[in-house]
Amino acid sequence: MPRQPEPCYQDLRTREGSRTSLDISNGWERVIVLANRAPFTHERTRDGRVGLKRSASGLVTALEPLVEACSGIWVAHGAGNADTACVDDRGGLEVPPANPQYRLRYVWLPDHEHRGYYYGFANEGLWPLCHAVHVQPVFRSTDFRMYQLANARFAAAVGEEAASTSPLILVQDYHFALAPRMLRSRIPSSTVVAFWHIPWPYPRVFKVCPWSEDVLDGLLGSDIVGFQTPEDCVNFLDTVESTLPAHVDRQQSMVTFRGHSTQVRAYPVGVEWANPFVRATPAAKACRARVCRDLQLPAGVRVGVGIDRLDYTKGINEKFLAIERLLEIHPALRGRFVFVQVAEPSRECLPAYRATRATLVATAERVNRRFGNDICRPIVLREAHHEPADVYRLYRAADLCYVGSLHDGMNLVAKEYVCARDDERGVLVLSRFAGAAQQLGAALEVNPYAIDESANVLARALCMSEAEQSSRMRLMRHAVETFDTYWWANQLLDDALAVNSEGHTLAHGDTSAERKSA
Ligand code: G6P
Repeated sequence: MPRQPEPCYQDLRTREGSRTSLDISNGWERVIVLANRAPFTHERTRDGRVGLKRSASGLVTALEPLVEACSGIWVAHGAGNADTACVDDRGGLEVPPANPQYRLRYVWLPDHEHRGYYYGFANEGLWPLCHAVHVQPVFRSTDFRMYQLANARFAAAVGEEAASTSPLILVQDYHFALAPRMLRSRIPSSTVVAFWHIPWPYPRVFKVCPWSEDVLDGLLGSDIVGFQTPEDCVNFLDTVESTLPAHVDRQQSMVTFRGHSTQVRAYPVGVEWANPFVRATPAAKACRARVCRDLQLPAGVRVGVGIDRLDYTKGINEKFLAIERLLEIHPALRGRFVFVQVAEPSRECLPAYRATRATLVATAERVNRRFGNDICRPIVLREAHHEPADVYRLYRAADLCYVGSLHDGMNLVAKEYVCARDDERGVLVLSRFAGAAQQLGAALEVNPYAIDESANVLARALCMSEAEQSSRMRLMRHAVETFDTYWWANQLLDDALAVNSEGHTLAHGDTSAERKSA
């Protein structure tokens, strides 16, 4: 029986008419996205009301416009405490409720299975393995068993949603390395594209995973495996070649294994340009006034912003160390520069995340003790979920945005900041270890591990002329607009169509790696 309580939710994404440049007239009967994180969860508050919460995730930012444009289906884990109360008898609902655009289908897992699959193999194993951040991956046989079970459970849900169609299935990220092979045998008429949002490491590193062969075998059930950068593709091909008895064709960027060919391509993920959040955000001056009022910042203070999940890959502690150094070498900035760091709590039950939190909280306290006073603390740490309206207000209010990832597949915060700055003001300070640095050459690049260098780059950002801000921002805005999420989706869908309709490899020289952005 359908149960649809009314969520108290202001839908910012309500839109009319045609709003995309996605060419979806390419005849897919059904498009199904399989991604662990749901774009919306339902949360019951203390007063018993149910509210919809948007997930803070780069993956959601990139994928949702595509699923909307295709009127597709998103299969995800039901992580909200009231999700079960809001679905039809097949575990799904149309979203956003105010203006339904696509179907969201939840899958629920027993606690022990979720622990092993999500916290264990995916986030204590594959996540640190693929990011070069010196956190030792943990591999447990029981976790891998749960990962297998969960992948099978999600693949079964995709099978149900596919009904008897020949769908295009877009499998997202490291949570579902085994699902492509399962889907291929469950729905032989499907076209399966796997997109790996995080980096792919060197072969030697990847082989630390005791189930590296299983992971590769699972992914090679896809017709296409996509990565963020050409370097990830090379690492993947090297890993396959040195691990499996597969044929690797470097010219065609194709792997043949168990009688099936898989294309390997780079598709740098983008954001929705001029998205509804940008349109709904007041002008920079108003944003600045509101942020200063809310955070009780003194008038005339310079503001930096960082928006991250609280994760050791994001380099938040290193950012705080750079700010400390900045204030040591530029005393004139004491009391005149505030860095607002949003750190959305994430994977809190894992020891590495708790240790990261303890370290960065201690660093922030030290820096604030050293350089703060009653009126102004240099670091404002906001450990909470922030809705897009709050995030975009901070982007518009800030003199600079600091993305300090120690390693990152792409990092869409960098691109969102550029989207938000239609006034062509503000400076993006960007880690060279984020995939986004390959597209945003006009950012101020930093090595986040080099604290002195980072402090100097921050100082440079704070004294950059308006003319230079504007010319750099213009270049970055051109890149982010050109290579937006629809560009990304169109490359994926076109390539999937080519593979599907002709059953052959993509023409050499027409790879997304070579259609690389500016
Ligand atoms: C980041 C990564 C994505 C990943 C997501 C998972 O956004 O860039 O590749 O899928 O984290 O986060 P979650 O909170 O869902 O574990």
